[in-house]
Amino acid sequence: MKGIGINHYGDHRELTIVDLPDREINANEVRISLRASGVNPIDWKLREGYLKEALPFDPPLTLGWDGAGVIKEAGKSVDAFQVGDAVFFRPELTEYGTYAEEIIVEEALVQPKPENLSFAEAASLPLVGLTVIEALMEIAELKSGQRLLFLGGSGGVGTIGIQIAKALGAHVTTTSSEKNRAFVKARGADTVIAYDQQEEPDGEFDVLFDTVGGSAYAEALPYLKTGASTVSIAGGASQNDAVSKNEEKKRIHANNMFMQPTKKNIAQLRTFIDQNQIHPVISHTRPMTVDGAKQAHLDSESNRTRGKIVLVRENEEEIT
Ligand SMILES: NC(=O)c1ccc[n+]([C@@H]2O[C@H](COP(=O)([O-])OP(=O)(O)OC[C@H]3O[C@@H](n4cnc5c(N)ncnc54)[C@H](OP(=O)(O)O)[C@@H]3O)[C@@H](O)[C@H]2O)c1
Repeated sequence: MKGIGINHYGDHRELTIVDLPDREINANEVRISLRASGVNPIDWKLREGYLKEALPFDPPLTLGWDGAGVIKEAGKSVDAFQVGDAVFFRPELTEYGTYAEEIIVEEALVQPKPENLSFAEAASLPLVGLTVIEALMEIAELKSGQRLLFLGGSGGVGTIGIQIAKALGAHVTTTSSEKNRAFVKARGADTVIAYDQQEEPDGEFDVLFDTVGGSAYAEALPYLKTGASTVSIAGGASQNDAVSKNEEKKRIHANNMFMQPTKKNIAQLRTFIDQNQIHPVISHTRPMTVDGAKQAHLDSESNRTRGKIVLVRENEEEIT
C-alpha cells in the first residue's frame, strides 16, 4: 500500500515513498482510495520522533490521520456504504496513514462526504472536528449561554472550535495575534484578545479550551470562575506544581486530552456540517507527492498556519 512516510525518524527530508504490506479487509472494514489528506501538527511531531514514547511505532510508516476518498471495497457486514461512495474519516492512529493511495478503515469511523464539500474540504475536518467535539461536548459539557475562553483561535483546531462553540450557543472569547484578529472574528468569535498586544480577557469564564499549552494555559487560570472546567490538547493542564495548586485553589476541573475517534462523534461532525453550522477553513493545498508533503510539513512547523493545510491527490494518480 503505497504512500508517503518515513523509514527513520527525523526532519522533513526523511519523507519518502513507503510501500507497506497489503492485507485483506475484515467484515466490518472498508478500503478507501484516498483523494485528500488533512495535515496536522501530529504528523511532523511524530515524524521527528517527539511522540516515540506515547506512540511506540517502528517505522516504516505512512503519515497523516485525516482523510477523504472513495470506497473501493466493502467488507461482508458493511451495510452503510457501497463501492463508489465518497466518504470522509479520521482513522485509528496506526502505521497506515492517509498520505497514501489507499487505506483500510473500520466502517464505524467513516461518514458519507457532504455533497457540498470538495474532497480537500472534507479531509480538513475530521481530526480537528472530533477533537473539538470531544473536548467541548463530552469533557467540558459546554452549555448555551456559558462563557468560553479559547486559546489559539486561528489554527486548524481553533477555526473549527470557534464555530462549534457558537453552534452550541456559547459566548466565545479567543486569543490570537493582532494580525489574525479580523480572521478569527470572521469565524464567529465574539471577543478577540490579541496576545501580542498585552490585552487581557474581560470578565470570568466557565470553560477554558487550550490549544497552545505552557504559559498560555497557566496565565489564563486567573480569568476562570471557581469550579470552571479546562480542557487542554497541548498538555497545559496540571503541567507543574504551581499550576496544579492554582487549579485546586479555584476547584477547577482540569483535563488534558488526546482525541479518540468514535462513531458518535464523526456522526455529530457530519450533523454540524449538514446544519450549515461549520465551514471548512483551508489555508492552502499542496499536491500529495513527496515534495508536496515536505513543503506542507515546513508550513505546519512554522506554527503560523491559519486554518488547515491539505494534501490533494487529483484523479487517483499514482503517488510520486
Ligand atoms: N491532544 C489532541 O487530541 C490534539 C488534537 C489536535 C491537535 N492537537 C495539538 O493542538 C495544537 C494546535 O493544533 P492545530 O492543528 O490548531 O495547530 P496549528 O493549526 O498549527 O496552529 C497554528 C496557529 O496557532 C496560533 N498560535 C501560535 N501560538 C499562539 C499563542 N501563543 N496564542 C494563540 N495562538 C497561537 C497561530 O496563530 P498566530 O499566528 O495568530 O499566533 C496559528 O494560527 C498542536 O500542538 C497540536 O499538536 C492535539
